[in-house]
Amino acid sequence: MKIVVIGGTGLIGSKLVTKLREHGHEAVAAAPNTGVNTLTGEGLAEVLKGASVVVDVSNSPSWDDAAVLNFFETSTRNLLTYEGDAGIRHHVALSVVGTEQLSESGYFRAKIAQEELIRASSIPYTIVHATQFFEFLKGLADISMVGDKVHLPHVLFQPMAADDVASALGKIAVGPPVNGIVEIGGPEQFRVDELVRQRLATLKDAREVVADPNALYSGAKLGERTLVPGKNARLGETRFETWLTQSAGTSRAA
Ligand SMILES: NC(=O)c1ccc[n+]([C@@H]2O[C@H](COP(=O)([O-])OP(=O)(O)OC[C@H]3O[C@@H](n4cnc5c(N)ncnc54)[C@H](OP(=O)(O)O)[C@@H]3O)[C@@H](O)[C@H]2O)c1
Repeated sequence: MKIVVIGGTGLIGSKLVTKLREHGHEAVAAAPNTGVNTLTGEGLAEVLKGASVVVDVSNSPSWDDAAVLNFFETSTRNLLTYEGDAGIRHHVALSVVGTEQLSESGYFRAKIAQEELIRASSIPYTIVHATQFFEFLKGLADISMVGDKVHLPHVLFQPMAADDVASALGKIAVGPPVNGIVEIGGPEQFRVDELVRQRLATLKDAREVVADPNALYSGAKLGERTLVPGKNARLGETRFETWLTQSAGTSRAA
């Protein structure tokens, strides 16, 4: 089966392309540097020719409110239009657990807009809501700075390895569309402030992490369980300690 992975050169996309190929599928990585740009439509008609499934794991290069909204609205609109013309039978998109509760955040308003466009289109779809990636813990610190300290709330958190995200997406991509949301998460629960503190320590990053009940996540207030998936979520296998000992976990870039 030909499966086009939009954002196929990114963190999740590159892992997904590898896994799909290992399972014998014709997986094509689509991104600006492979000649496919969902913002302009460049290369979309060509890459979708003969494909059955599209998995969208792209992300906006800029997370400014206006830029990220423009990215997800324009690219999703273009993608769905070209998919209709190409006869795509399943559109899979990666979004985030709790997205619908995070509309105070410009980033999440853009993800809500992306999801609404998918629901309104005639293409059968599956929206995958994942929890935060272990690989994103340092990035979470970076977007949570107040002065020179990291401010995060002491709320529940169930992050997962990017590898497990890609495995789950691979299975969903070759299965039937659910025309709804599938939640995926990690095998263990933590507290956001505590896990980011632990991650920074392993990176020898000296920034202090402050447990702050008023701290915002990407501009939005979090409830105790906003970032935790529901009881029907499919859980990845990789525990945080195991991930840390793997090479990706010890990379300072992660
Ligand atoms: N971070 C988290 O913890 C988390 C949790 C749940 C869900 N998610 C979701 O996961 C998704 C993927 O995240 P990621 O970290 O894997 O992203 P990433 O590593 O930043 O990769 C983004 C991909 O999008 C591509 N892209 C950018 N602009 C494009 C365009 N105009 N046309 C086509 N492709 C374009 C990039 O290509 P170039 O490299 O060529 O620019 C790259 O391949 C996002 O939608 C995010 O909302 C993230």
